[in-house]
Amino acid sequence: MTASQRRLDDELFVTAWLFEEGKHADFFRRFSETVVGDDFVLEPRDVGLQRRLFEVELAGDMRRLLQDASPAAQARAFTTYCLLLESLLAETGHRVLEDALRSRSLLPGLQEGLVLVNRDESRHVAYGLHVLRRLTSVDPRVAGVVQQRVDELAPLVAGVADAVMLHYEKRPFGVSYAMREPIQRLLAQLHRLAPTAL
Ligand SMILES: [Fe+2]
Ligand SMILES: [Fe+2]
Repeated sequence: MTASQRRLDDELFVTAWLFEEGKHADFFRRFSETVVGDDFVLEPRDVGLQRRLFEVELAGDMRRLLQDASPAAQARAFTTYCLLLESLLAETGHRVLEDALRSRSLLPGLQEGLVLVNRDESRHVAYGLHVLRRLTSVDPRVAGVVQQRVDELAPLVAGVADAVMLHYEKRPFGVSYAMREPIQRLLAQLHRLAPTAL
C-alpha cells in the first residue's frame, strides 16, 4: 500500500500497526537495557547476518516501494516483513523464549509481554496475508513473487535465528531449542499456501 492509494481500511490498520510496533520496540529496549545489560553481546559474524536481513533486505524492499508500487513490489515487501520477519522469525522466537521462561517460572513480566506482543504480531501477519490475497486477485504473478522471496530469504532468516540460539555456550535462560525446525515447518506451509491460496 502507498499513501497515494488512499484506502481508508489500510490507513486505519497501518496507523494501529505503527503504534503497536513502537510499543514492541520500547518493551524490548527496556528489557535489554534493564535486564540483559552488557552480558549478551553478539559476535561480529552474527551482527552481520542481522544487518543483512534488516538493513539490506528489509530496508531495500521498503525503499523500493517509493519508486515502484506495483503489486509485485508490494507483495515482495509484505512477504519479507509479514511472513518472514513477523511470522517466522519474531513469532517463533517469542514462543520459544516464552516456553523456556514459563517452564522455569522465570520473569513473569517478560512472559506476559511476549504473549501480548505475539497477539499483535498475529494480527499483523493476518493483515499481510489479507493484502497478499488482494494483490494476487489484481496480478496472478504475485504468488510467484511470494514463493521466490520466501526461497531467497529462508536461509538468512534461519541463520539469524540460529545465530542467537545455537552459537553461544551460555544460552539465554538455558534455551536449548533449535529454531530451524519451526521455521522450516512454517516455510513448508507457506510453500503449499503460495501457489494456491494466495
Ligand atoms: Fe513487532
Ligand atoms: Fe509486527
